[in-house]
Amino acid sequence: MEGTPREELVRRAVEARKRAYAPYSGFAVGAALLAADGRIFAGCNVENASYGLTVCAERTALFKAISEGAREFEAIAIACGEGPCAPCGACRQVLYEFAPDLLVIMTDAAGGEVREARLSELLPRGFGPKSLGA
Ligand code: THU
Repeated sequence: MEGTPREELVRRAVEARKRAYAPYSGFAVGAALLAADGRIFAGCNVENASYGLTVCAERTALFKAISEGAREFEAIAIACGEGPCAPCGACRQVLYEFAPDLLVIMTDAAGGEVREARLSELLPRGFGPKSLGA
């Protein structure tokens, strides 16, 4: 987190949440992922009429980052609704691939209440590249 304050990451997640496409659940989520080189990749949830093809905010942010060449990450801020929410299981797994000890900053729609955890706490004994000997 050197150089980029938590407040900036939270602000970017709150901003991204406003761009959520969530007409079916009505539950908007924003994420801001901080890469080791200082770049911030923002994402929102993108729902689909088929429901099952919905992509969460965290994965949108991560896939944007990977496709732009970032591979190492320090932290992710996630902005939900009335209170902070933790990333879903699928997003934990996808983030674990690149950053097993990622700092996860969880906040509400306004960026007011903030909670923190390490991904290694949220996904203990996770399955990752090392499990394959990679
Ligand atoms: N959602 C996220 O974007 N991130 C999460 O970690 C949990 C769930 C989205 C998916 C769906 O569009 C809506 O929130 C309700 O589940």
